[in-house]
Amino acid sequence: MQCVKKVLPDLFWVGADDRRLSCFEGVYGVPNGVSYNSYLMLDEKTVLFDTVDKAVARTFFENVAYVLGNRKLDYLVIHHMEPDHAATIEDLMFRYPDVTVVCNNKIETLLKQFFDYDFVGKIHIVNEGDVLNVGKHSLTFVNAPMVHWPEVMMSYDATDKILFTADAFGTFGALNGHIFADEVDFMHDWLDEARRYYTNIVGKYGVQVQNILKKASALEINYVCPLHGFVWRSHFNDFLEKYLQWSSYTPERKGVCLAYASVYGHTENMANILAGKLVDRGVSVEMFDTSVIPASYIVASAFKNSHLVFASTTYNAGIFVTMENLLHDIVAHNIQKRKVALLENGSWAATSGKLMKDLLSKIPNTEFITSTVSIKSAPKAKTMDELDALADAIAAEIVPVKQTDEAPVEEAVVEKALTVEKEAFFQFSYGLEVLTTRFNGADYGCIINSAVQVSEGDKKKVAISVINKNHTCEMLKKSGKFVVSVLTEEAPFSLFKQFGFQSGRDVDKFEGADYNDRMANGIRYLPVYTNAVFSCDVIQTFDLGVSTLFIADVVEAKVLSKAPSATYAYYHAHIKPKNNPAPEQKEGWRCKVCGYFYEGHELPENYVCPLCNHGPDDFEYVPGAPVKKVKGFICKICGHFEPYDGEELPADYVCPLCNHGRDDFEPAER
Ligand code: FEO
Repeated sequence: MQCVKKVLPDLFWVGADDRRLSCFEGVYGVPNGVSYNSYLMLDEKTVLFDTVDKAVARTFFENVAYVLGNRKLDYLVIHHMEPDHAATIEDLMFRYPDVTVVCNNKIETLLKQFFDYDFVGKIHIVNEGDVLNVGKHSLTFVNAPMVHWPEVMMSYDATDKILFTADAFGTFGALNGHIFADEVDFMHDWLDEARRYYTNIVGKYGVQVQNILKKASALEINYVCPLHGFVWRSHFNDFLEKYLQWSSYTPERKGVCLAYASVYGHTENMANILAGKLVDRGVSVEMFDTSVIPASYIVASAFKNSHLVFASTTYNAGIFVTMENLLHDIVAHNIQKRKVALLENGSWAATSGKLMKDLLSKIPNTEFITSTVSIKSAPKAKTMDELDALADAIAAEIVPVKQTDEAPVEEAVVEKALTVEKEAFFQFSYGLEVLTTRFNGADYGCIINSAVQVSEGDKKKVAISVINKNHTCEMLKKSGKFVVSVLTEEAPFSLFKQFGFQSGRDVDKFEGADYNDRMANGIRYLPVYTNAVFSCDVIQTFDLGVSTLFIADVVEAKVLSKAPSATYAYYHAHIKPKNNPAPEQKEGWRCKVCGYFYEGHELPENYVCPLCNHGPDDFEYVPGAPVKKVKGFICKICGHFEPYDGEELPADYVCPLCNHGRDDFEPAER
C-alpha cells in the first residue's frame, strides 16, 4: 500500500524509510535508519525526481503509481547516480517505457555503466543553466560536482522556489512519518546525525560544497528537498550556517574531541585523567573509545570541536589498529585548521606518538600543542604534571580569561563625544507584528516592531509606531482603526518580504492570499504564523518626525495559538537570511536590513532601499576586489581546478579529488 506525503499541492514525497539497514554505504552505522527521498511533481507534465535504493523498491513503486493515478510519467530527473538513489532506475524504465530521462552527460555515462537497458532515444541531456518547462513549473539545472560524486546536479524550480539538492542537506535517520524539518526539533534532536552524515559523506569536498552554496546564495529558496532526511521550508538558515562552517572546516565550538585506544586500560586511565583536568578548567570534552565507537561518530566530533586529542597504546610497534584506522579516516576527510595533542603508551618502546604525529601532520594548518605525553605501561606522578600542563595549554586557548578581583585602576576622566550605537537598540526585546488597516474598501498592511500595551483597566490601550513613509501609516491616519497580528517564530522570511519589502502604493500585499479572515471591524488579520490579534481604535497620535505614534483602545483581542512570539532578535538570528555574499569582484553598498546590494562606489544621497525602504544609514560599504584570472587546468571528471601556469600539467599529476591523471584535464582560467 502507498505511503506518500504531500510537500506542496502538486509535489509529493514518494520515497521510503529503511530501518533495517545496519551499514549505510557498507561503513556507516545507521541505528535510526535512513530515508531515501524521491519526489513526484504533477504539472502539465509529470516529473519524478530520482528513484530509491532497491531495499525499498516495492513501496516506492506503489507510491509512484498511486500519485500518478491514471497519468503517465513524462520525465525522470536524475540528480545522482549512486545506487541508494539510482538502483531502481532500470525497473522504472520497464514500468514506464515512455518516460524521458533528464540528466547531464556524466549521468548518462553512469547509466550505461550500471544498466544494460537500451536508453537510446530516451535521454534528454541538460547542461548548467538549461531550463525545462513542465507547465506551471520550470526547472533550471545546476551542476554540483563532488557533492557527492562527480556527476551530481541539482534542480531549481523558479515557481515555488524549490531547490532539489541531491545528497546535500540530508541527514541519517528515518523520517518516521514527518516530512518537514520544522515538524521535529531538528537542531536539538537531529543535528548530530546531520553532522555525521555531512562530515562522513561529503566532508572531504568542502571546496565543492562552498561552490554550490555560492550558486545557491543567488537564488530565492522556499523549499529544500534533499535525497535523505527532511524537506526544509522554514528556518533553513540555521542549517545552512552549519554547512558554511562544516564546508570551510571551521569548528562549531571551542572544545575537545578526545579519542583513545587502550588495550588493558592504562592509556584509557591517562585519557580519563586529562578529561577530568580539562573539565575542571571549564573545557567541554567529547570522549570516545576507538575500540567501541565507530569512526564516523569521531570524525563528526572532530569537525565539531576546535581541539583534538588522541591517545594510543603502541601495538605491533605501531599505532593501535582502531586508532590508526580512525586517523586515516580523519585525514582522508580533509579536516583542517585544528589544534592537536597526543598521548602515547608503550611498555617497551613507545612509537605510537611519533607515528600519530606523522599521520596527522598531513592535515593542513594543524598545530600540535606541547610535546607528546608519553608513559611506559601506566601513568605515574610525573604524568600528572604533564597532563596538568597540557590541560593548562588547551584551556588557555579555549576558556575566556576571568576577571581578577583586584580593584580597577582609576582612569582619568576624558571628555568624549557621546555616541548612540544603533546596535544597542537591538537589545530591546521588541516583538514583530503585522499591522493592518482598511480604507475605502481596500486592505493595507506592513511589518512593525513597536506594539506595546501602555495602559491597563477596562479599556486596555496599546501604542504602535509606524514610519510615515509607509502607505499603511497614511491609510491608518485616515481610517483611525487597525489590527495587530502578533507574529510567531514560525513566520517565514517570505512573509516579512510580503509585508515589509514592498509598498502598498505599488502592489496589493494580500493578492494571492488563501485566507480572508477579518476581525469584527472588517480589517483583515493573519490567521497563520500569528498567536494573537488585537483590534484597536486610535485615540491619539503624536508626530515623531520620521514616524507617528498611535495610541489606541483595544476593542477586540483573541488568542490564536500558543506558539512563541517572534522577537526582533529572533528574526535577526533565525529568520532573516544571512547576507548574501556580494558579487565577489564588485564594489558597492549592502543594506543591513534586507541584504539588498547596490553596485557602485558612491551611494546616492537620500537613497532608499528598493526592497525595504530603509535609507543610507542602513547601508554598509563593501569594497570591491580586483578581478584577476588565474591560469590552470580543470578536471573533466570532477571539476577540480588546479592553478598552473605552464603548457601542460606534470606527467605524474593526479587529481586530489578523483585521482584521475593529467589526460583528464583541460586548460581553463578562473
Ligand atoms: Fe545518497 Fe551519494 O548517495
